[in-house]
Amino acid sequence: MNSHRLNRRRFLGTSGRMTAALATGTGWLASWAAQAQGANNKVVLALIGAGGRAAAHASGMSKLPGVEFKYVCDVWTERGGGIVNELAATQGRAPRRISNMRVAFEDPDVNAVVIATPEHWHALATVWACQAGKDVYVEKNPSMSVWEGRKMIEAARKYGRIVQVGFQNRSGPYAATARDYIASGKLGRIVHVKVYNLLDGARWEPVPDAPAPAGLDWDAWLGPAPEVPYNPGRHRDWHPYWAYKGGTLADDASHQLDLARMALGDPGHPKSVLCVGGNHAFQSQREVPEFQCITYDYGDFTMTCESGNATGYMRKFPGEVRYGDKWPHWPTSATRIEIYGTKALMYLGRHGCGWQVVVEGGKILDQDKGYFPDKWHQPNFIDCVRSRKEPNAEIAKAHPSACLVHLANTSYRVGKRQLDFDATTERFTNSGDANALLRPAYRKQYRIPEVV
Ligand SMILES: NC(=O)c1ccc[n+]([C@@H]2O[C@H](COP(=O)([O-])OP(=O)(O)OC[C@H]3O[C@@H](n4cnc5c(N)ncnc54)[C@H](O)[C@@H]3O)[C@@H](O)[C@H]2O)c1
Repeated sequence: MNSHRLNRRRFLGTSGRMTAALATGTGWLASWAAQAQGANNKVVLALIGAGGRAAAHASGMSKLPGVEFKYVCDVWTERGGGIVNELAATQGRAPRRISNMRVAFEDPDVNAVVIATPEHWHALATVWACQAGKDVYVEKNPSMSVWEGRKMIEAARKYGRIVQVGFQNRSGPYAATARDYIASGKLGRIVHVKVYNLLDGARWEPVPDAPAPAGLDWDAWLGPAPEVPYNPGRHRDWHPYWAYKGGTLADDASHQLDLARMALGDPGHPKSVLCVGGNHAFQSQREVPEFQCITYDYGDFTMTCESGNATGYMRKFPGEVRYGDKWPHWPTSATRIEIYGTKALMYLGRHGCGWQVVVEGGKILDQDKGYFPDKWHQPNFIDCVRSRKEPNAEIAKAHPSACLVHLANTSYRVGKRQLDFDATTERFTNSGDANALLRPAYRKQYRIPEVV
């Protein structure tokens, strides 16, 4: 294998240039550089949503030079204590705990916000932040619908804000080398791409409504989503509800869909989508299906995505793959991507895995091992807040990836029908029912305005 090892320096050289090119921000953002009120040196942040992912961002970003978290915001007092304690120790100053994100938006000291709430809050919080003149790091999946994603782009442009999405693979050098490799033609013509997201799971059971726990503002947690009584199932495991997330597809497959798009040179929207599936494994009554099988037609190649919670023998990449030198066992890797060219096949893995190119007999032609990419993605955001350059996972680049989730879920929800999509208008051309799902209904006080 070593004799066929990719000349890493050559590819890192290329990827370094690509990263520089990405960071150069040719166009709209660069023109804002002179006028935008960016942070010159110190970057003051507010963390919005203080759960598991927020803890990783607080820990990572607070160690970057000149970065300080002034606020930790959560609508549930049970959350955020550990983050505040860690930040107090790292920064030498404890951030203020708040429960209303608007406090941070109204503070002129705050340069940027990190949004790590459940997904039904992502778009509205991003639009509000942009309107308040704050830059934004928003977790994946950035939007709940095609329309929301478009409004996030419009808000970023109108207010000249940096909006980085938590698709951290885009900052991994291995993603750039994969893209260079494919662009070089060494795989041949790309004819098929298979995205896997085959996770384990358990039977989902509904639980009865109950009184909300002390310290939780349930109305604020629901935010733009429909008003419902407090339910511990919704609150603690919001993933299987259409109102709060696009299921397993939005949760984990979105990373692979985005990485695949990046490796392919960021194609726009597909021409059509078909999603079938169902609650095949556990026959539970959960809204978002246990298993989904999707076909995207890009015209000159096809991409499929198989996603679900039913295959416990498959494994996400373990620590020794994400942070070490080990390669995964590809056939049982739950979150792999297979890119089929006419000459060779590329296995590509997210979150620090890397890629290997194989030909007949399993011979490995080339490879590039990765490392978990937060260590590049978080600094990339802070650098861009300072420089006003375009971040690696800028919202307009991330939007078509997020839409792959929305298009598939829409196809499933309108009866597992093939839907044709017009990339220019971002509307379906053969289903009124599907178009009705392009934009969620919001509660009055939590509406994203038509004109942001
Ligand atoms: N990029 C990645 O690798 C990665 C990994 C994990 C999670 N995520 C994403 O991060 C986000 C958060 O996931 P998590 O696992 O940390 O969820 P979580 O449920 O642990 O935390 C979310 C927190 O947001 C709070 N919240 C809800 N509404 C709020 C509001 N209006 N204002 C302030 N706080 C509010 C909740 O009380 C909760 O504490 C999700 O979008 C998820 O998809 C990304």
